[in-house]
Amino acid sequence: MKASTLRKIAVAVMCCLVAVAARSVKDQPPAAGDALAAYIAGARSELEPRFRLHYHLMPPVGWMNDPNGFSYYNGQFHMFYQFYPYDSVWGPMHWGHSISSDLVHWEELPTALIPENEMCFSGSAVDDDGVLTLIYTGRETIAQEPFYREGQYLAFSDDGVNFHKYKGNPVLPAAPNGSPDFRDPKVWKHGDYWYLIVGSKTSDERGRVLLYKSKDLKEWEFLTVLGESNGDMGYMWECPDFFELDGKFVLLMSPQGLEAKGDRFKNTYQTGYIIGTFNYTTYEFIQEVDFQEIDYGHDFYATQTLEHEGERYLVAWFSMWEVPHPEADDGWAGALTIVRQLELRDNQIIMRPVEEIVQLREEFLMDGELHSDEETELPRATELIVLGDLSEDIELLLEGVDGGDAVRLRWEARSQHVVVERGGDERRASWRPARGATWRLFLDASSLELFCGEGEAVFSTRAYPLGGWRLTNRSRGPLHVQAFRLGASVPT
Ligand code: FRU
Repeated sequence: MKASTLRKIAVAVMCCLVAVAARSVKDQPPAAGDALAAYIAGARSELEPRFRLHYHLMPPVGWMNDPNGFSYYNGQFHMFYQFYPYDSVWGPMHWGHSISSDLVHWEELPTALIPENEMCFSGSAVDDDGVLTLIYTGRETIAQEPFYREGQYLAFSDDGVNFHKYKGNPVLPAAPNGSPDFRDPKVWKHGDYWYLIVGSKTSDERGRVLLYKSKDLKEWEFLTVLGESNGDMGYMWECPDFFELDGKFVLLMSPQGLEAKGDRFKNTYQTGYIIGTFNYTTYEFIQEVDFQEIDYGHDFYATQTLEHEGERYLVAWFSMWEVPHPEADDGWAGALTIVRQLELRDNQIIMRPVEEIVQLREEFLMDGELHSDEETELPRATELIVLGDLSEDIELLLEGVDGGDAVRLRWEARSQHVVVERGGDERRASWRPARGATWRLFLDASSLELFCGEGEAVFSTRAYPLGGWRLTNRSRGPLHVQAFRLGASVPT
């Protein structure tokens, strides 16, 4: 069967699941915030902890997908996320909520949005003159094909904790061409206006992003199609974002339906960006560089970014659609990546871990040579800085001390490629070391993030080792390794 046919079947199954899930919202008693909090506290005490992460945001119980509403309000960073508390699989979407003062240590807040007639799909958050305003997609089930419709909704908070939905919802009821797929608004302010982009598709199934503007977040004027697939860029563009970075404009998004091409686009769906120029008078985005993936790992999707004090921060869902989620057996599923800082260099986004992450270092474990075939055991939460001779091939094996997943990290000197292989499934990217030749690795109880050099190539991959991690140098030559045990910074 052709991949595109399979994908169509998958989409049809997804739609049925959505319809079934939507029906079950109505069957549930309306879960008031207090009842939900009590449910979460109870279910949390039953979780199996083996794969719970130490410094990555994850759901308290149940399912998490996209980050949402990454924002700064009243002196705190806010992170919301797609959340289904009642099972460790996708279901009617709520918005979970956490805050941080440093983008590393996170505190959990009450669930911000609970679905009623609408499931609360992805969106963004802005500080509108002291009111933390969420702009999210409401997905409703309807009686006619395709049995759902999507529009943009608002919710407000005066304290950054308790939210109430706007009575005039939806503020954007339908896409200009009537497409039912009309989701994941990103809102920002420029001059006197709010701007909004939202993912959608053409009537012949090509992904596109639409641009709107508004004075008050309630009445929106459609401006233009900011970007659109010419036929080989997928059938739907999810979770768009649009921002200026080092003098260029970046359209970052998660297209569904790209065909795998050699080493590229090997995940179920991709996340990447198009670089160009933009003019706030003509609203024209002129593309200069074709779509590039922003992270080459197995589990990275649906990014959110935030600009704060001149820095552009990024976070993503640290998982993937339609793949096994081993932690789901333990009562939870899904996580977010560590926050990264972005820079544009030579028409490429460079992604490095947020500077404050060094605060997690609690113990200096080693600083020395790891000889060929030598191994060392490491705690579940560890940062490694590895330096090898890049004129030779390098191979590092990371595996569970008591079994479970094994991941191989390789440098292929001749082709200048980095390879991350998990269970025989490889992700590869070319890497031209710019200013640094080290690999910086963040290991957690069920994840691995590899930053090559200053972040010219980044891989985010979930892996499920049992016991702690064991590192073996499988290269012919020695490697210089620095290791730090990292502390915990998220609620368990
Ligand atoms: C992306 C996505 C969004 C949608 C949300 C639903 O992963 O499919 O397009 O808003 O997840 O949970």
